Amino acid sequence: MSETLERWGSKRAFILAVTGAAVGLGNIWRFPYVAGENGGAAFLLIYVGFVLLLGIPVMMAEILIGRAGRRGPIQALGALAMDAGASANWRWLGIFGAFTVFCILSFYSVVSGWSIEFLVASVNGQFSGATAAEIGAGFDAFLASPGLLIFNHSLFLFMTMTVVAAGVSKGLERLNNLLMPLLYGLLLLLAGYAATTDGFSTALAWLFLPSFEALTPTVVLHAMGHAFFTLAVGACALMAYGAYMPEDQSLPKAAVAVAALDISVALLAGIAIFSVVFAQGMDPAEGPGLMFVTLPIAFAELPGGVVWLSVFFLLLLLATWTSAINLAEPMVVTLQGLGCRRSIATAIVALSVWLMGLLSAFSFSTLADFRPLFGRNVFELVSSIPPDVFLPLGGLMIAIFAAWVMPRTTAMQALGAGEGGYLLWRNVVRWVSIPLTFIVLLGGLL
Ligand code: PHE
Repeated sequence: MSETLERWGSKRAFILAVTGAAVGLGNIWRFPYVAGENGGAAFLLIYVGFVLLLGIPVMMAEILIGRAGRRGPIQALGALAMDAGASANWRWLGIFGAFTVFCILSFYSVVSGWSIEFLVASVNGQFSGATAAEIGAGFDAFLASPGLLIFNHSLFLFMTMTVVAAGVSKGLERLNNLLMPLLYGLLLLLAGYAATTDGFSTALAWLFLPSFEALTPTVVLHAMGHAFFTLAVGACALMAYGAYMPEDQSLPKAAVAVAALDISVALLAGIAIFSVVFAQGMDPAEGPGLMFVTLPIAFAELPGGVVWLSVFFLLLLLATWTSAINLAEPMVVTLQGLGCRRSIATAIVALSVWLMGLLSAFSFSTLADFRPLFGRNVFELVSSIPPDVFLPLGGLMIAIFAAWVMPRTTAMQALGAGEGGYLLWRNVVRWVSIPLTFIVLLGGLL
C-alpha cells in the first residue's frame, strides 16, 4: 500500500480544512443546548480547560500520526506500528475510528437535514407571524414525518458525498476555502445583531459568570466529550487530513489556530442564540430542540427576525457540510487503500451511512420505542455514546500511540516544532492529557 501523494495546496488551506472539520453542529447546535442543560458558564469554563489540556495536544497527536503515515488511518497506524516494532493490532484503533465516524455521520446527516428544512421554511416566511405554540407543534410534526426527515437526510448526504468524490484539492479544499470565511463573516454579523437586543447582557452574564452548583461527574464527562467532539478529535478523522499536510508546516501553530477559531465560533454562536432566547424570556435548557424551536419563536418576534433566522440556518448548514466531509473522508480513503476507486468508495460509504441514518430518522416516530441499549432509542444512542465515550477513548489510544509507541525521530519530524517543542508536547500528552482523559472517562462511566 503506497503513500498518498496528495497535499493541501497551502498552509492556510490545511488550517481552513481542519477548522471546517471542527466547526459544525458541535459549536452551533450542541454547545448551546448542552451548556444550557449543564449550567452555562461553568460548563464553558470546564470545556475550554479540556480543550487546552487535552484537545489541542491530542489533536496534534492525531494529525501527527496521519502526517507521518501519509495513508488512510487504518493503513497508517498499521505501517507506523510495524516501523516501531509494535503490534499490528494498532490497526484496530483505525477500525474503531471508522466505526465512530460512521455512527456520528449517520445522525449528523439527519440533524443537518433539519437545517435544510428550516432554512427553506424560514426563507419562505413560514415563521413570520407564527405563535410559539404553532412553531413548537410544527417542529414535533416535522420530527414525526419520517418521509421529510429522510428526504433532507438524503439531500445533505448527497451534497456531502459529491464534494468528497471530487477529491482533496478539487472538492474538500475548494469548499473549505470558500465557506469558512463566509461562515465567520455571517456569524460576526449575527452576533452584532444579537448585541442590539435586550437579552445581550443577560446572555453575557449567563455565558461568562460561572456558578458551580450544577457540577457533577457526568457534567465533567459531557464537557470532555464535547471538547473532543467540537475539535473533531478522537475518531482518526483528522488523521486522514494530516496525511495531506504540507511538508513544511508547524503542527502546533496550526492546532492552536484551529482551536482558537473553534472556540470563538462557539462563543459567538452562544452569544447570538442566548441573547435572542433571553430577549424573549425563554428557557436556555430546552435540549436538542433549542435552536429549532426556541430560535424561530424568539426571532419571529424581533424586528427583521426572519432574515436573521435564515442567516442562522444557512450558517448551520455551511458549518455542518464541511464537518460531514471530514467525517466521510477517513472511510473513503480506507476503502481506497483496499484498492477501490474513489468514486466507488464514496458510493459505498454514502449508501451505508444513508441506511444507518434511517434508524435515526425513524427514531422520532416508528422506532421511537425501539430502545436496544440503556433504554435509549437509536438516535439517542448514536448522538450521545460516540461523542461522549468513543471519542475520548479513541483520543486516549491515539495519544498513547503518538507519545509512547512512535519512535522519537518519526514523531518529532511529523510535529514540525523542533526538539524542544516535541519534548514539551510529549510531556504534556504523557503526564497530563492521557491521565486526565483516563480519569474523567472512568469517573463519568462509573
Ligand atoms: N467537530 C464536528 C462538529 O463540531 C463534529 C466532528 C466530530 C467532525 C468528529 C469530525 C470528527 O460538529
